[in-house]
Amino acid sequence: MTTLVAVGAQWGDEGKGKLVDWLAPKADLVVRFHGGNNAGHTLVVDGERTVLHVVPAGILDPGTINLIGPGVVVDPTVLLEELLALRERGVLRDPSRVRVSGRAHVILPWHKALDKAREEKAAKHAIGTTGRGIGPAYEDKVTRRGIRVADLLNPEQLRDSIERVAEQKNFELVNYYGWPAIDVAETTRMAIEWGRELEPYVGHVSRTLERALRDGRNVLFEGAQGTFLDIDHGTYPYVTSSNCVAGAVCAGAGVGPTRIDRVLGITKAYTTRVGGGPFPTEEEGEMGARLREVGSEFGATTGRPRRCGWLDAVMLREAVTVNGFTSLAVNKLDVLPGLDELKVATAYKVNGKISQDFPMTLADIEAAEPVYESLPGFTEDIRGCRRFEDLPENARNYVRHIEALVGVPVEILSVGPGRDETIHDLDPFRPRR
Ligand code: IMP
Repeated sequence: MTTLVAVGAQWGDEGKGKLVDWLAPKADLVVRFHGGNNAGHTLVVDGERTVLHVVPAGILDPGTINLIGPGVVVDPTVLLEELLALRERGVLRDPSRVRVSGRAHVILPWHKALDKAREEKAAKHAIGTTGRGIGPAYEDKVTRRGIRVADLLNPEQLRDSIERVAEQKNFELVNYYGWPAIDVAETTRMAIEWGRELEPYVGHVSRTLERALRDGRNVLFEGAQGTFLDIDHGTYPYVTSSNCVAGAVCAGAGVGPTRIDRVLGITKAYTTRVGGGPFPTEEEGEMGARLREVGSEFGATTGRPRRCGWLDAVMLREAVTVNGFTSLAVNKLDVLPGLDELKVATAYKVNGKISQDFPMTLADIEAAEPVYESLPGFTEDIRGCRRFEDLPENARNYVRHIEALVGVPVEILSVGPGRDETIHDLDPFRPRR
């Protein structure tokens, strides 16, 4: 039995979907533990593209059980659409391959409306959220007035809870934001219908996990977003509303810290960010545009162009600190050929002082000027490379240099979007000790 947590080391979009899809056939269970349909994982298998927002990326592998933990916020319309599409494609025949925790909180229509209304009102101070209602849903969870997946299965109580919450939500929407009220009767009708349709998939995720671990299964915990979007460790307030770091697995899936064996940090060979907030190594000119174009850097969830820039070792070291990575996966190395030089930030200059550490305050992150090292680039197309030794010397040096700067071994390299376009030597699920 080995448990592996795979989390993003940057601002999300590090290619976790591809990696998780590649790891899934080696796992018996794949588990989402936080976030919601603000995530979008693009999987390419046999040339066919699938974008998943809620269902764990293990679903395309027929032997894998996919769990959605209590730490996730679930939009039932999105989950049900994904399940239907997977059933229609013949991918999901047995409902027991997907289990959603009865304790996961539900994203309701007013969460989505409030998310958008707040962003609109915040104008230039907007976070740049995905508009999926994530923040307002987590807010209700923490203030203890949320509705959970299991509540959808009890229509009488559900009607009461919805009416109670809706009164306050509609007051805020109408009177503070000037938005139209949400239709309470229609929301109740939909919620009862969601419960009916979701019932075959609802379960006790922690118990399923406990049984699997006792039976010696391999478990993959699939992170969403990334370390610097974490509500506590990210570039607050330009973050999402959940904990994205590896430690969030324990509360978000319901599994003890003693059960975690390995933590894989996933990074791109450069850096991207969607939405607002500081980004020290951002390249706004031609270089950024080139990375965006060659790397197809447009959001899987919202289609927004991603901001692009050089790799940032200061961020990666911070990500190691807060996640305890046992190894790194470097994605999208195939986007770099043709660049004369490859720059990596190794320190920041903040208000005249050089620091190796990621700053603690937003003002200092905004003031941070990257101190770069420049490595020679490479020109060769590397998508056909399947062994580290096949890579051009400058590509190998770049990877080795990242390891040295960050202090964690790079065990997986991605050289293209397809499952097979991956370089690795070691079994990611080998026992830790
Ligand atoms: P929210 O999660 O929709 O509230 O958005 C908060 C911030 O997180 C915004 O900057 C979003 O662009 C960003 N974000 C949320 N989910 C993702 C993701 O899956 N990839 C990249 N950025 C994300």
